[in-house]
Amino acid sequence: MRKKIVAGNWKMYLNAEEAQTLVSELTSRCRNIIPASVEVILAPSFVHLCSIHQQIQNEPGFFLCAQNLHEAIQGAYTGEVSASMLKSVGCTHVIIGHSERRQYFGEKDALLANKTNQALNHNLIPIFCIGETLETREAGDTFSLIKNQLTEELFHLSAEEIKLVIIAYEPVWAIGTGKTASPEQAQEVHAFIRELLSEKYGADLSNNISLLYGGSVNPGNAQALFACKDIDGALVGGASLKATDFTEIIKAR
Ligand code: 13P
Repeated sequence: MRKKIVAGNWKMYLNAEEAQTLVSELTSRCRNIIPASVEVILAPSFVHLCSIHQQIQNEPGFFLCAQNLHEAIQGAYTGEVSASMLKSVGCTHVIIGHSERRQYFGEKDALLANKTNQALNHNLIPIFCIGETLETREAGDTFSLIKNQLTEELFHLSAEEIKLVIIAYEPVWAIGTGKTASPEQAQEVHAFIRELLSEKYGADLSNNISLLYGGSVNPGNAQALFACKDIDGALVGGASLKATDFTEIIKAR
């Protein structure tokens, strides 16, 4: 049985007080309504991880996620954060390969593969993001790009390792634009990802990996996306910053 997941990526938003207010609103709204089969994952900025861990540690169904990690075990890397540091403050998950990291910080295949190894070595579950730009989609290259990202960044993993990974399909043109992929467009790519996983690791394993859709998910479109056969949940940006909207998305799952 694949896990159903709703994850909120807060990006570089919310100060300490705002973050804590959001979590207390969220936990009180969600208490007793999250079905046991659904995991809610919160990805605040590094600086809020400790305080939010305190807030959610006794809330069933809530998990803590970092937005990034460094690929080295430790070292003289001023300003960076390691996997073991994340683990030590209560993180269970970490986002890797987000398009904003690829675009603004030049993160490429080999680095993302190394970050994934580091996360898995420290028992952190990667939420690994892939997805095409508008240019790539319009050139008809979406599938070859998706295949390339999976092959170069994740397919070095053993079956034992990849079965722990959550994959998020986030078309770059749908991120923060209010322009969501249609359920058909999203499902088509999710089915393709599952097919590639199946070819490489077998159908059983592929059928057990959770695939999330991300890109302008909101209370109005979540249900139709979640109704798709290969969409197991969502990675939500903007709408995860509002307790009411994020709760509605969780309820839709
Ligand atoms: P939006 O939901 O704001 O489009 O962001 C999606 C995203 O990048 C989640 O990681």
